[in-house]
Amino acid sequence: MKKTRIAVVGFGQRGGAFVALAMQESAQVELAGICDSSPERLRSFAKKNHCTAPLYTSVEKMLEEARPEGVVISVPDFQHAPVAVTVLKHGCAVLLEKPMAPTVEGCREILKHAAKSRGVLLGFVLRSHPVYRKVKELLDAGTVGQIMNLQADEELSVMHGASYMRRWHRRVANSGGFMLAKCSHDIDILSWLVGENPCRVSSFGSLAFFTPEKLKHEFCSECPDRACRFRFAGEMVAMDEEEASSPSRYGFDRCVYTKDKDVIDHQVVDFEYPSGVTASFSLDLFAPAPRRRLKVVGTAGYIEADTRTLTVGVAFSDGRKPQTFALKQENASGHGGSDLALFRKFVAMTRGEKTDLAGLEAGLASTVVGVAIETARRERRVVELPPSAYEGAPK
Ligand SMILES: NC(=O)c1ccc[n+]([C@@H]2O[C@H](COP(=O)([O-])OP(=O)(O)OC[C@H]3O[C@@H](n4cnc5c(N)ncnc54)[C@H](O)[C@@H]3O)[C@@H](O)[C@H]2O)c1
Repeated sequence: MKKTRIAVVGFGQRGGAFVALAMQESAQVELAGICDSSPERLRSFAKKNHCTAPLYTSVEKMLEEARPEGVVISVPDFQHAPVAVTVLKHGCAVLLEKPMAPTVEGCREILKHAAKSRGVLLGFVLRSHPVYRKVKELLDAGTVGQIMNLQADEELSVMHGASYMRRWHRRVANSGGFMLAKCSHDIDILSWLVGENPCRVSSFGSLAFFTPEKLKHEFCSECPDRACRFRFAGEMVAMDEEEASSPSRYGFDRCVYTKDKDVIDHQVVDFEYPSGVTASFSLDLFAPAPRRRLKVVGTAGYIEADTRTLTVGVAFSDGRKPQTFALKQENASGHGGSDLALFRKFVAMTRGEKTDLAGLEAGLASTVVGVAIETARRERRVVELPPSAYEGAPK
């Protein structure tokens, strides 16, 4: 079979993972090109990944010369709309990282150009995660009766959480807020499990630990506090050699206590859905290791899920014996093996196959809800989300 020509735009933390997957899938995929606006990162990351694909600093040039059929877009959130529109105008299939865009206007700009393309898949990897697939299967089978309430949380390891304080995510204008930048996955999963989008949200959260009075120097490389636990450290810190020895061009060694950020470091959210289902979600940035947990309460019992232990349990309120499902990670890729599953579905979609994963409708909905959560938090009020808020995406 002819190989599918895939390109990657944005060769950073996430783009690096997709480049690795494309190389791993080389029997079916030709890595047609990699584009990053930073020539230094392109050079250094290509060397580090032993990658020989053509490298570009211009998306337009890459599209014209490399002629990819599908393009993975893994640039920072505020670049999603402009880059996606450029790629969609060329008719390519797109795998667009989450969130679709940090503003609803950005999503609508993408929607205007999406009809011309071979399809758009959103990077909501959790829909391919074995734990959430099992929960969805159980709910669809009516295992715990009518859904009443969901309780979910995300625990980020403290080093992963800290990385959101130093990079482009630290400004709400770049990301739409922490909830959208990090937890658009969770917003999407809740709506997917409930089967509808929320009609109102409220939220509280603030910055209480990564506060600016602790700042000693703007960059780790020049900071006198050599014992600082966040010095150059973080799961998401991906620097080239030059960056690691001098103040960063790119922000990976920016102090986590910077003054110019407006994100939060802890947050809770409440959701109400049109059917009356309620949900709550909380975000923890200070955990020893990453984990997501979920409890779905139904009229016949509840389901409990944990992504760290890969287990899903069902307890019944009518005397039936409890059930436990010990799930397996199907491959070694990120997010419990979901990264490879998503990438394969994207390659299949680029070849013309239909996909059941999240697309534009889910992407727009998650941004609509994420923006409403940030508004609710800042303005300390309940934000209403009528059906019209979600209009405009293809079904
Ligand atoms: N699905 C997931 O679980 C998941 C996980 C991590 C990140 N992400 C998403 O992936 C995206 C990238 O995040 P990251 O952590 O890799 O960021 P990053 O900062 O590490 O990398 C982004 C790269 O894009 C490049 N870039 C910026 N603007 C560009 C443009 N206009 N054209 C070409 N290149 C450009 C930068 O130079 C950088 O190398 C974000 O949208 C993020 O939300 C998703």
